[in-house]
Amino acid sequence: MKKLIIAIDGPSGVGKSTLSKQLAVHFGYVNLDTGAMYRTVALAAQQRQIDAADCVALDAMCRQVEIRFIREGAGERVLLDGEDVSEAIRTPEISQLTPQFAACPEVRTAMVDLQRALGEEGGVVLEGRDIGTVVFPDADVKFFLKATAEERGRRRFLELQAKGVAVDLEQTIAEVEERDAADSSRATSPLCQAEDAITVDTTRLSIDEVLAVMIQGVDKVMSDGGSPTH
Ligand code: DC
Repeated sequence: MKKLIIAIDGPSGVGKSTLSKQLAVHFGYVNLDTGAMYRTVALAAQQRQIDAADCVALDAMCRQVEIRFIREGAGERVLLDGEDVSEAIRTPEISQLTPQFAACPEVRTAMVDLQRALGEEGGVVLEGRDIGTVVFPDADVKFFLKATAEERGRRRFLELQAKGVAVDLEQTIAEVEERDAADSSRATSPLCQAEDAITVDTTRLSIDEVLAVMIQGVDKVMSDGGSPTH
């Protein structure tokens, strides 16, 4: 059976990470969280005190650092030059900083190259913002997940609250909207939907319901023999 490349794109808080992991487990595929790569770039730049506007220094940094994933059960750990940064890249500060670094064209080129190298063999579910449009425009199956900003902010709020972080609902929604605006308006590879993507509005759906729709979409492509284009 041909091993497919599955792309999942959409804004933050739409359920991409959870669904990407579950879809990968269902098909025995590898999950690739491309947002974690941009977060790691932001962390590495912060450690080196490199400004987000300094794309020359960021280009050099991307050539020097090593970003690696190690599998751990259904999840993975992210290593920056061998150091486990899986938690350090999830702080609210890094979440707010990352869109600025992800807007640098040199950073995007370096990360897209890495994502293609990791995914080209197939048997992979990649989740991000530009997977179906830029990284793998010939992906076998493309999904675009969406949900209202209020719902995505609410989910993020509950997630942070469960972790014991003191948060405000209105502020969390405002931050989601701010990140959406930054990711959608940047010049290089903005968040946008591939024309041939299967769109799923997750606002009123449970994770299991969305997963069922996605499995059905992948099964259909598998029974058709996969995309002939890659
Ligand atoms: O999915 P996430 O919240 O971990 O993504 C972190 C940031 O990286 C977010 O601002 C969007 C950006 N990103 C991107 O520009 N392109 C991707 N393929 C994945 C994430």
